[in-house]
Amino acid sequence: RGKRAFIAGVADDNGYGWAIAKSLAAAGAEILVGTWVPALNIFETSLRRGKFDESRKLPDGSLMEIVKVYPLDAIYDCPEDVPEDVKANKRYAGSSNWTVKEVAESVKNDFGSIDILVHSLANGPEVTKPLLETSRRGYLAALSASSYSYVSLLQHFLPIMNPGGASISLTYIASERAIPGYGGGMSSAKAALESDTRVLAFEAGRKGKIRVNTISAGPLGSRAAKAIGFIEKMIEYSYVNAPLQKEMLADEVGNTAAFLVSPLASAITGSTVYVDNGLNTMGLAV
Ligand code: NAI
Repeated sequence: RGKRAFIAGVADDNGYGWAIAKSLAAAGAEILVGTWVPALNIFETSLRRGKFDESRKLPDGSLMEIVKVYPLDAIYDCPEDVPEDVKANKRYAGSSNWTVKEVAESVKNDFGSIDILVHSLANGPEVTKPLLETSRRGYLAALSASSYSYVSLLQHFLPIMNPGGASISLTYIASERAIPGYGGGMSSAKAALESDTRVLAFEAGRKGKIRVNTISAGPLGSRAAKAIGFIEKMIEYSYVNAPLQKEMLADEVGNTAAFLVSPLASAITGSTVYVDNGLNTMGLAV
């Protein structure tokens, strides 16, 4: 049978999660997605009304099938963690079983197991603030949504992952080089995510024969990136300064993801893989 993938962090057809879903679908995988609860309604409605049909097109002309959409809020591990005001919030009250533990249980009940786990989500409420002006609460929220969310997802999904499976996340060069503007502790969150990739690769490798890698992606004008405020500048900077002077397509990250979770990458684990037109290798902008 084909492989089954759970992709956390898909809420429209613009981001890396969507592109990864498409590359995996084109390679024959069955696609399940986890969608942030507040974005669930509009995503499902748009899907149903055919708004994404053009971008669902796969290279063979068929349309990507999303077998099931699960509501997910990856900052909560189990129902006991959810504050009362969130429980009472209309958007959250309209869905159920969206904590990480419950989503893993639902996927287990629905499908038994998965082969591929993708983490394509991040959130930093103070991302537009310099680190020097970031509050403790904002910093910890960035780490919770963007780094620990991955530890939690892998923790809860590992027991239902078939041996030989693989997992990936998305990171950004701001973890290792100073990128003014990528604030609020988001640079710290990506540093944590990359370090955790190495430790989780060891632990999940030994425990479940699962590979763990992260893709350090170039700038893309996704919904999340537009919220940061300087994405167009970053895209232009990359175009001017990278070894490859071309637009970076989300599909190029999708294709690398498909490679990394496939048997072609069977000896690659714990790695940060750059998909950025080579920008990370430059030491002097010319
Ligand atoms: P996106 O907006 O398509 O994806 C982010 C997703 O995270 C959204 O669907 C949002 O609903 C979801 N999300 C936020 N908080 C959540 C929570 N608590 N629980 C569940 N889902 C939640 O944007 P993009 O840019 O494709 O982001 C995907 C990943 O790629 C992120 O990790 C991001 O940091 C990373 N990345 C993006 C780059 C860019 O230039 N766009 C560059 C390098 C890495």
